Amino acid sequence: MQTGRENWQTRWGFIMATVGSAVGLGNIWRFPTVVGRTGGALFVLIYLIVVLLVGVTAMIAEFTLGRHTRQSPLSAFRTLKPNSSWWAAGALSVAAVVLILSFYSVIAGWSVAYVIRYWTGALSGLDAAGLRAAYEGLTAEPRWTLVLHFLFMSLTALVVSRGITGGIERWTRVLMPSVVVLLLFLLFRVLQLPGSGEGLRWLIAPDFALLNFATVLEATGQVFFSFSLGMGIMITYGSYLFGDDNIPQSAIFIAGADVAIALLAGLTVIPAVFAMGIEPEMGPGLIFVAVPAVFNTLPGGSFFGGAFFLMISFAALTTTLSLLEVGVSVIMDEWGWTRQRATYGAASIIFLLGVPSALSEGAVPLMVLGMTFLDAVDFFASNILLPLGGILTAIFVGWIWERRSVMNELERAGHRFLLAPLWFASLKYVVPLAIIMAIAGRFILG
Ligand code: PFF
Repeated sequence: MQTGRENWQTRWGFIMATVGSAVGLGNIWRFPTVVGRTGGALFVLIYLIVVLLVGVTAMIAEFTLGRHTRQSPLSAFRTLKPNSSWWAAGALSVAAVVLILSFYSVIAGWSVAYVIRYWTGALSGLDAAGLRAAYEGLTAEPRWTLVLHFLFMSLTALVVSRGITGGIERWTRVLMPSVVVLLLFLLFRVLQLPGSGEGLRWLIAPDFALLNFATVLEATGQVFFSFSLGMGIMITYGSYLFGDDNIPQSAIFIAGADVAIALLAGLTVIPAVFAMGIEPEMGPGLIFVAVPAVFNTLPGGSFFGGAFFLMISFAALTTTLSLLEVGVSVIMDEWGWTRQRATYGAASIIFLLGVPSALSEGAVPLMVLGMTFLDAVDFFASNILLPLGGILTAIFVGWIWERRSVMNELERAGHRFLLAPLWFASLKYVVPLAIIMAIAGRFILG
């Protein structure tokens, strides 16, 4: 076992870093979009059930694996089952984080551009058509998309190079609360809009006629994406955890915070969309076109618009930190590189991998299987690698790793885990089954 591994300085710092990883574009853009597509409050209800049964269970498993081994994902599996192929589960997660970070940083870069554009007045007064043209103009401009992607990766690397306490913990402790404050501030403004009440009702009152299997599958995929599961992130963050942390309690708190922020984002974005008379199913354009169109109708719209994109940029940064940290911790553990060298090495490769994604959204026609390059990478990483990583981790902790050893780790420092039998059952059966159905459903139902 390695000595001298870094630790979170405080429990609060660990919680802010993990909530920071979980809260990102998935909450602010993807959640409202999925809610829009699948029918409002009913999805929210199903989502909450999946969070409790699948999300919290899987998160506890990842933290336990990380804290017990105090290793990055690749070596965590190998330490517990040497001379087996289980290391491949860790390798899979590394591939997934690298791919996700490569395109996530591109979209995060656009949101930084929107802060600047709003606060310099470049977007003020534009209507939905003008905003759409501005969005398409930005994504089709190769120089800018690349510069923004580069800037975002550099900022991520700068923080990660400072280490766990001096970098990630210090930054997320400031950025995460700022996201919540900005979100509440925007929510308050949006709820004053005429017509927003209808959107609110749509989000709160479930219509059971819409219940179908696809909605349940969609909820499972969204929980994994939103909680940053199946990627080794929670294994890595768990490896910096103190021995006396109560893991199940932390996981419930983190899940609750992530759900609360997704709901707040839904409450902000969806009523805004209703107030504008726009259909909520419209997809990614939602945050770059529809929501700005709403802010542009308000007095001080440029200010609110800038604040909205600042919030998104902060939320995205706390996520990209966690994605890069997985790669960095693997390189440090495997090759013994210094943190500086590992960080800048990994960040450079990921920047290069992101170049085709950055160019594919309008600048260069780069298509794969009928999708833009960026969408194809997203699809492959989020719908194939991520669920595979999730299922392997659940099987490993539920079936392969000795149960007594798992319990000893969970109940370290005298914390009793009374729901352990339920948790094990969920980890062994519910989580793998839910993921298999979600993968199958994605390909069968489309
Ligand atoms: N949880 C992040 C979000 O909601 O935006 C996205 C994400 C991060 C997904 C890390 C997967 C991952 F491994």
